[in-house]
Amino acid sequence: MQRLISILISLLIAFNSNAQFKDFHILGGELSNSAATSVDDIEEVLPRMKRLGLNTVLVPVYWELMEPIEGQMDFALVDRTIDVARELGLKIVPLWFGAWKNSMSCYAPAWFKRDVKRFPRVKTAEGKPLEIASCFSDNVLQADLKAFSALMQHIAEKDPQRNVVIMMQIENEIGMLESARDHSPLAEKAYRQQVPLTLIKALDIKKQGTWAEVFGTDNYADEKFMAWHYACYVEHLAKAARQIHDMPLYVNAAMNSRGRKPGEYPSAGPLAHLADIWKAGAPSIDILAPDIYDTGFKSWTAQYAMPLRPQENGASGIGGKVKNRLFIPESRCCENSGVRAMYAFGEHQALGFSPFAIDQASPKETTSVTKAYALLSQVFHLRPQNSWGLLFDQEDRERVIDDEGVVMTCRHYFTLPWDSRATDGSTWLEGGAMIIRLGKYDYVLAGSGVVIDFKTRTEKQQEQQKKLGEDGFAEAGTNSSSSASQFSGSRLGLLSVDEVTIDEHGQMQFLRRHNGDQSHQGRHARISVGDWKILHIKLYEYR
Ligand code: DGJ
Repeated sequence: MQRLISILISLLIAFNSNAQFKDFHILGGELSNSAATSVDDIEEVLPRMKRLGLNTVLVPVYWELMEPIEGQMDFALVDRTIDVARELGLKIVPLWFGAWKNSMSCYAPAWFKRDVKRFPRVKTAEGKPLEIASCFSDNVLQADLKAFSALMQHIAEKDPQRNVVIMMQIENEIGMLESARDHSPLAEKAYRQQVPLTLIKALDIKKQGTWAEVFGTDNYADEKFMAWHYACYVEHLAKAARQIHDMPLYVNAAMNSRGRKPGEYPSAGPLAHLADIWKAGAPSIDILAPDIYDTGFKSWTAQYAMPLRPQENGASGIGGKVKNRLFIPESRCCENSGVRAMYAFGEHQALGFSPFAIDQASPKETTSVTKAYALLSQVFHLRPQNSWGLLFDQEDRERVIDDEGVVMTCRHYFTLPWDSRATDGSTWLEGGAMIIRLGKYDYVLAGSGVVIDFKTRTEKQQEQQKKLGEDGFAEAGTNSSSSASQFSGSRLGLLSVDEVTIDEHGQMQFLRRHNGDQSHQGRHARISVGDWKILHIKLYEYR
């Protein structure tokens, strides 16, 4: 009976915590790798993160410091992290730096590292050992699993209601480097086995056979073999976590950027092109998460927001069966981080965003994060159902959105002719925002460095390109009406553009009206580069 009651209580807690999580957005930041290795540093860094406006901090848990002697756990760092976070009202996402961190096994304890016989390493085809514990070794798995389970158990006791620890990252950027496939004896044995039926079914493959027979023998086939085995390994940890202390779980991936081939990038990790293998091998993992450092922020996010929006089916992401909510645990911390956050939440209804090593970033780099998070924490009170994200740079300057006949032409602020920063030779800061549709002719725009005009669809179709002078008027001779045909249909005008704040009940509080020069006499709504605002925009139709 007592057991039944305790199961019911834990089910109730799990239900409540997931329900809480549904409306919670991670306005996060990840600490640099060595930031949480001493109690003093934890006590110094967490209040600083709070002051930056984060609601969640991603904090490493280091296996080597947690289990310095085999079987003896030391949770001092974990405890201090949770206690300080609780005092500050911060949420924590622990990062399990267990068997692998950025492919390597550098965070494994000394007793593990030294015992190569018990804990074998990956071998290249040439027989060179790499400092990567082999995922084919049951000893490796059991040691990792034991430590990780002890961590979960400890967190369950320390924070049973999940008031502080809200999600777990398992390992960090798993992947093979130097060699696309493990060639150690245990790995070779597995390679000669039949491809498991679960995977054959998940991938809808028609034939059965060994890995080489089903997938071939190139680097990409090797990568699939490793991805499956890494995923199965992770599933053991994820399942244990679920049983001990259920909460959302994710794995993160280093991107396969710059045309690199498997073995050149950390291959076989939870990459978008391996998502179906990872989801089949590790069904207890909720989220596959991209660490985005390279150029192409929009395209990486689209690949991890699965299934894609219908209008984006032509993009390179994975649609279909695989489901994945976008969460960006790592992103380069820079002056553009803030607008990228606005984009991720607006366009993909992301669960969270988190610049990496935010504790080491300069105020110049963190300012945009603080400003964006201050806006986001307000707009989330509107519980946006229908939103878009904007993100522009010097090359990618315009996006046209047709919202049921309301055509929004959205551009980088520097496309306006009057800001001298656009032409002073410096690289443009990115502009980005979130547009929320509240109702017909009723929108909220929140962000920085964007300008939007609104037209009816028919008006847009009849639009003539005009070159504007720096005063905003058409250049002489570009306004010839002789060639224009008769205008048909109606037009949209700005009824009002108000700068607002939004309170916790979702009520907008008026700050000031934007009209006259601030809306180019009713032609557009805009937020300058460097300014961060929420604009409430109402439209009307006229003939
Ligand atoms: C990605 C890793 O996940 C981080 O821990 C850190 O090593 C960064 N790369 C460094 O850029």
